Amino acid sequence: MIETLIMDSPMIDRRNGLNDLTSKEWVQETKSFFYQKGLGAGSPEAKYEKMHPAPFSFTDVAKLLRFFTKKGGKVLDPFLGVGSTIKACVELEREGFGVELSPKWCKIARKRLSSESKHKVDDKHLICGDSRKLEDYFNEDFFDFVVTSPPYWNILEKKDHKANKRAQKGHATKYSSDEMDLGNIKDYNKFLDELSKILLGCYSLLKPRKYMCVVVSDFRHKSEFFAFHADLITKLTDKKKKKHFQLKGIKVLIQNAKKLFPYGYPFSYVENIHHQYIVILQKPE
Ligand SMILES: C[S@@+](CC[C@H](N)C(=O)[O-])C[C@H]1O[C@@H](n2cnc3c(N)ncnc32)[C@H](O)[C@@H]1O
Repeated sequence: MIETLIMDSPMIDRRNGLNDLTSKEWVQETKSFFYQKGLGAGSPEAKYEKMHPAPFSFTDVAKLLRFFTKKGGKVLDPFLGVGSTIKACVELEREGFGVELSPKWCKIARKRLSSESKHKVDDKHLICGDSRKLEDYFNEDFFDFVVTSPPYWNILEKKDHKANKRAQKGHATKYSSDEMDLGNIKDYNKFLDELSKILLGCYSLLKPRKYMCVVVSDFRHKSEFFAFHADLITKLTDKKKKKHFQLKGIKVLIQNAKKLFPYGYPFSYVENIHHQYIVILQKPE
């Protein structure tokens, strides 16, 4: 109904410095949830995403890019994986930059971008390195948007049905064995500290009033439930720190097509976690 409160116009409001959306398109994108739109296992475009143990679909990133940037905007993904963010940027005519620690995923990202979009990504846009050094790679106030999906602690160490299925198909079950890989940190609090340092490093690189979206999921480790999204928000919005973000919203990304497993049955409640969170943060003026 709210759509009727706003006049739809095919024109973009000249005061709109954020995106290229009309009023009606803008309002649609402010819903606090959306359904994940996977590519489908058979899609030729899923070929490279399937190689990685935890990709996100470039179609989901594209949705965020459309709202949080204008054409030509500069976008950073500090955990690039196989390059979904840069691929979405190429399709939407944004300028994508990414950092990825593992040479294996960097190589696959380059191959993917040149074969799927004829985009030859150079070393300035795809940095094969450690995101702890972001401030060495990029200038301050350079980016219009940061979007990323970081490692979720060391949950890929779990030998569950998903890992077993990937191993049977000869696909990787973890990112790397590199000790600088955030997915290899053993202690949860140390992991949270390291991740939040990297994401707070993005603060200086973002232009004032611009946004950062972090795609995360809560998870279980042994029988303990970790509210990872909440723990991360606490770290990134800590007002005692000079650099801290303002929390602007939490969008739920519903994964309704995931298979249900009878965890806990018939003894206790063990959740099928079928959603992720998109934590939306803004750098203040
Ligand atoms: C959840 S995945 C991102 C997947 C990506 N969104 C995609 O669609 O391919 C996290 C990535 O962070 C990378 N990574 C882990 N530690 C890193 C670090 N210190 N610096 C840069 N990348 C790192 C991993 O190798 C992994 O590819």
